[in-house]
Amino acid sequence: MSPTNIAIIGAGLSGLTLALALHRNSIPCTVYEARMAPLDIGGAIMLSPNALRILDTLGAYARIRSQAYEFDHLFFRSAKNELVDSYEFGSERYGYHGLRVYRNVLIRELSAMVTEREIPIQYGKKFLHVVSENESSVTWAFDDGTTEMASCLIGADGIHSRVRKYLYPEMEPTFTNAMGVTATVPTAQLRVPDGYELPVTIMNPNHGAFVIAPQLSDGSEVLIGRQKRAPQLDRDGWDRLLSDKQWCIDFLRDGVNDFPEIVQHAVSDIDPHKINLWPFYVVPKLDRWSSRLGRVAILGDAAHAIPPSAGQGINQAFEDVYTLSLIMAGAGTEMSFNIGLTIWQQRRQERVDKILQLNAQIDKRRMPRSADMDDGSHAPFDLQWLYAPDFDAMVVEWFDF
Ligand SMILES: Cc1cc2nc3c(=O)[nH]c(=O)nc-3n(C[C@H](O)[C@H](O)[C@H](O)COP(=O)(O)OP(=O)(O)OC[C@H]3O[C@@H](n4cnc5c(N)ncnc54)[C@H](O)[C@@H]3O)c2cc1C
Ligand SMILES: *[C@@H]1O[C@H](CO)[C@@H](O)[C@H](O)[C@H]1NC(C)=O
Repeated sequence: MSPTNIAIIGAGLSGLTLALALHRNSIPCTVYEARMAPLDIGGAIMLSPNALRILDTLGAYARIRSQAYEFDHLFFRSAKNELVDSYEFGSERYGYHGLRVYRNVLIRELSAMVTEREIPIQYGKKFLHVVSENESSVTWAFDDGTTEMASCLIGADGIHSRVRKYLYPEMEPTFTNAMGVTATVPTAQLRVPDGYELPVTIMNPNHGAFVIAPQLSDGSEVLIGRQKRAPQLDRDGWDRLLSDKQWCIDFLRDGVNDFPEIVQHAVSDIDPHKINLWPFYVVPKLDRWSSRLGRVAILGDAAHAIPPSAGQGINQAFEDVYTLSLIMAGAGTEMSFNIGLTIWQQRRQERVDKILQLNAQIDKRRMPRSADMDDGSHAPFDLQWLYAPDFDAMVVEWFDF
C-alpha cells in the first residue's frame, strides 16, 4: 500500500528538501515545524557534489550557487604552518565544486520553493507523540492539543528527534566528548599570505585544530573555529555556555601564540554576536528507521547524526530524502512499501557506515605524526563512490535482485 499523503515533522534542511522531492513525484505532503518561523541561525555548511546533484535535480542548486563560496579542497597544515595534507570536497570531475553556504540562505531558498509549490508548512506545531498506527494510517498529537492523521509520518526533526522516541523510547543521542566553537570574521583581518590556500585546518598537538573557512560568494568573510574535548552538559548548560561570549572568545584564543600568525590575526577581533557553539552528539546505530507497520519513519540527523570529520552530516540527509522520495514514488512497485522502507534503511545504513569508516581514516591522518612513521597513507582518498553516484540508478538497483 503506497502512501497517499505524507506528514513531515520538521522544516529543517531534511524536511524542506523532502517536501520538494515528494512534490516532484506528485506525492502530496504537509510540513509541521515546532518553531514559529523558519530557523534563522547557524553558520555556513559545506555541501559536496553528492548533495549538490540532488539539490540541482530539485531546482535548488541554481538558487544558492551565487550566494555560496566555491572551493575544491580542504587543506591541512602543521602547527608550524607546513602544508601536510589536503582533502577533496568537490571537482569538475564530480560535476560540482564544493560549496560553503549559510544555512539560513539554504533554509530561506528551500522554504520559498516549498511555498511556490503550494506545499503547506504549518509553523508553531510541535509534534508530541504518536497516538495510533495501523496498516494504512498514523495519528499523532501536537503540543497545542490537536491531533492529525496521515498515511505516513516522517520525522525530519533533527538529532534530538521526538518521532524517534516512538521507535526507540529509551534511546538518547550520545555525546562524543568533543565540541566546536566558531565565529565569523572579515577575511581582511587575517592578512592571508600570498599563495596560502583556504579553507585550512591547522593542527596543533597541544591545542587541537583551528579551522579557517571562507564564506560568501566573494570569500570576504571567514568562519574560524576550534574543536576540543569537553565534558558533557545538559541543554541548558550548552545554552549557558553559548551565551557566555567571553568564555567562547577565550576558547578560540586559548594557546593562540602556539599557532601561526594567521591564527593570531583571526582571533584578534571577534564580534560576540557572530559566535556559535556545536557540541558533537551522535545517534547510536539503529536497526530500523521505520516502524513495523511502516507508517512512521525517520531520516537525516534523527536517524544518524554523523561526526563532522568528512563534512557529510547534512549531505547524507539529502541522500536519505532523495532516495526515500524515489521509493515512495514507486521505484519498488513490485513489493510493499514496508519492504521498500526496510531495503532503503539497509542500503542507506551501509553508505553511512562507509562514511563513518572514512571519518576514522581522516581522523587518523590528522593525528600529529613523526616523519619515520610515514607509511604513505597520505595518498589522496578515492572519493568517486561518495561524490558521484547516480541516485536514480542506485535505487533501481536496490530493487533489482
Ligand atoms: C552549529 C552547528 C554547525 C554545523 N555545521 C555543519 C557543517 O558545517 N556541515 C554539516 O554537514 N553539518 C553541520 N552541522 C550538522 C547539521 O546542522 C545537521 O546535520 C543538519 O542540520 C541536519 O538536518 P535535519 O534537517 O536532519 O535536522 P535539523 O536541522 O536539526 O532540523 C530539524 C527541524 O525539526 C524541528 N523540530 C524539532 N523537533 C520538532 C518537533 N517535536 N515538532 C516539530 N518540529 C520539530 C526543528 O525546529 C528543526 O527546524 C552543524 C550543526 C550545528 C549545530
Ligand atoms: C486505521 O486507523 C484509521 C484511523 O483510526 C481508520 O480510519 C482506518 O479505518 C484504520 N484502517 C485499518 C485498515 O484498520
